[in-house]
Amino acid sequence: MWPNPIDYFSGLIERETGIVYSESNIFQLKMRLEEFCRVEKISSVDQLAKLFQEKSIQPEQGQRLFDMATNNETLFFRDPKYFTSIEQFLKNDVLKTDPREIRIWSAASSTGQEALSVAMTLDQLSKKMPMPSFSILATDICDKALIKCKSGLYTDFEIKRGLSEDKREQYFRKEGDLWKAKPEIFSKIHYNYNNLIRSSVYDTFHIILCRNVLIYQKVEMRKAVVDTLFLQLDVSGALLLGAGETLVGIRDDAKTEQIDGVSFYKKSKLTSKRTA
Ligand SMILES: C[S@@+](CC[C@H](N)C(=O)[O-])C[C@H]1O[C@@H](n2cnc3c(N)ncnc32)[C@H](O)[C@@H]1O
Repeated sequence: MWPNPIDYFSGLIERETGIVYSESNIFQLKMRLEEFCRVEKISSVDQLAKLFQEKSIQPEQGQRLFDMATNNETLFFRDPKYFTSIEQFLKNDVLKTDPREIRIWSAASSTGQEALSVAMTLDQLSKKMPMPSFSILATDICDKALIKCKSGLYTDFEIKRGLSEDKREQYFRKEGDLWKAKPEIFSKIHYNYNNLIRSSVYDTFHIILCRNVLIYQKVEMRKAVVDTLFLQLDVSGALLLGAGETLVGIRDDAKTEQIDGVSFYKKSKLTSKRTA
């Protein structure tokens, strides 16, 4: 007997992405699945579940289903104090170790505003003090969001969410009805698909931003993701979570440095010896 299709999809989505649809938001999943069927011209959610279970779904259709399960809410300079404290952290910690290049990872970057905000922050810093070049890796599980990232194009509405007029003039130019990020920031960012629960990123970073994504996962999954992210921190590096997120109960051996109310989670000396 087939399981209830909504339970089937919540299980599938959790296994493949880590995103949990619990009792409180299962109705949202039902609505999203119905909309998905309408767009994909599939007669019902039951029929969709059958297609998945019989493995007669196209890979692109499967990817679109996982895209549909994600929440891509983001904006430029989301929680602005993060960006002033990133500047402080680079000045007071990372730059003192004399790195050849500064590497930053926006893990779960959604449509790219976070990575571009970091690029603007570092570009501004490089005008105030000597510093090495920097590169930013922006990854997400959602293909649709990555396609937008790679276009570098934003609507008026998106631009107005978090970006000052000054920064808009400095870093974006009008392209038809849209705004395109200028090469001085856009060229610093590399965009890639990555699933945090099966990470395929093999590099180390001075800052990893993993904001507003672990909230959708169960504690055990958060622990596993954070362990992987810690392996990818440079010895002088730090992990940043979203404003409402914490490592308490997830990774209690992390050293926490508070800068202007933002927690920078670093490897403890013992962990760095094990993983550096
Ligand atoms: C709410 S957005 C946060 C975007 C940005 N970090 C911010 O704080 O503004 C959450 C993003 O996490 C992505 N995501 C969810 N599960 C993921 C996973 N397992 N691996 C990578 N990205 C994931 C979603 O596709 C979505 O774009």
